Amino acid sequence: MLTIPNSVLVALELLRERKFSIFVKRCAGVIYERRTTYGLRRDLRVPFAAPKAKIPIAVREFRAADAATFFDTDRTVLDRKEKIELAVRYAHYQARIDRCYVAVDQRDGRPCYCQWLMGPDQNAKIQAFFPRTWFPVLNRDEALLENAYTPAAYRGNGIMPSAMALIAERAADLGCRYVMTFVESDNVPSLRGCRKSGFAPDLLRTEHRLFLGSLRLRRFSRLPAGFRPAGFE
Ligand SMILES: CC(C)(COP(=O)(O)OP(=O)(O)OC[C@H]1O[C@@H](n2cnc3c(N)ncnc32)[C@H](O)[C@@H]1OP(=O)(O)O)[C@@H](O)C(=O)NCCC(=O)NCCS
Repeated sequence: MLTIPNSVLVALELLRERKFSIFVKRCAGVIYERRTTYGLRRDLRVPFAAPKAKIPIAVREFRAADAATFFDTDRTVLDRKEKIELAVRYAHYQARIDRCYVAVDQRDGRPCYCQWLMGPDQNAKIQAFFPRTWFPVLNRDEALLENAYTPAAYRGNGIMPSAMALIAERAADLGCRYVMTFVESDNVPSLRGCRKSGFAPDLLRTEHRLFLGSLRLRRFSRLPAGFRPAGFE
């Protein structure tokens, strides 16, 4: 069967959504593109009260039985972006990198959010699984919180801020004081969720991509204290 490359699907989607300026930028990006991602950090020694979600939730570790609820959804009803979001989480799950947490909707017990809290004991797996230099190597007192995902039907209930704030606190069990997370600069819902769960911008990851991403150069730089990206307010 003929498979259409993702870049073509993205181009068609942008035209359909009449996002012409992004389309032009993407076309130019075939040759060169610069992507920026914020590294946000929370210091667990600074007291922070987790906000409440609009529905009752409880956080616990991911169980094997959750995979069926979370990943075995009918993907034919998902749009292209959602299919990718889910596939990324499934790949992380299959890579067996500890520790995935879920928030459970207490009204029916269904998992309604997932996120991985990885400690420095996972450094080797993190560096092997994610693209090279995607994340810094964790220091002994640093944990990494990644791949937040709220299924579309649950979005807008404040689950991310509440669950992320609570999951971050579990880093203390790993002997970590600091928790880091990385969010693309244009992912406003996620940036807002991070702010509401006690995270503040700390690092900037700049990626230079050449020739459709066949050559990539990444580097980290520290953001000035008090820096607030657009959409973070
Ligand atoms: C980012 C994400 C985890 C946020 O989860 P959430 O539980 O919906 O979080 P919130 O309820 O706090 O909503 C976040 C923002 O989404 C927007 N939002 C509200 N209702 C929404 C809906 N029905 N659908 C989509 N977004 C909605 C709002 O801007 C909201 O911010 P605000 O309430 O401060 O204005 C979720 O959108 C998601 O899974 N996205 C795809 C994966 C992703 O981007 N993960 C983060 C990677 S760093």
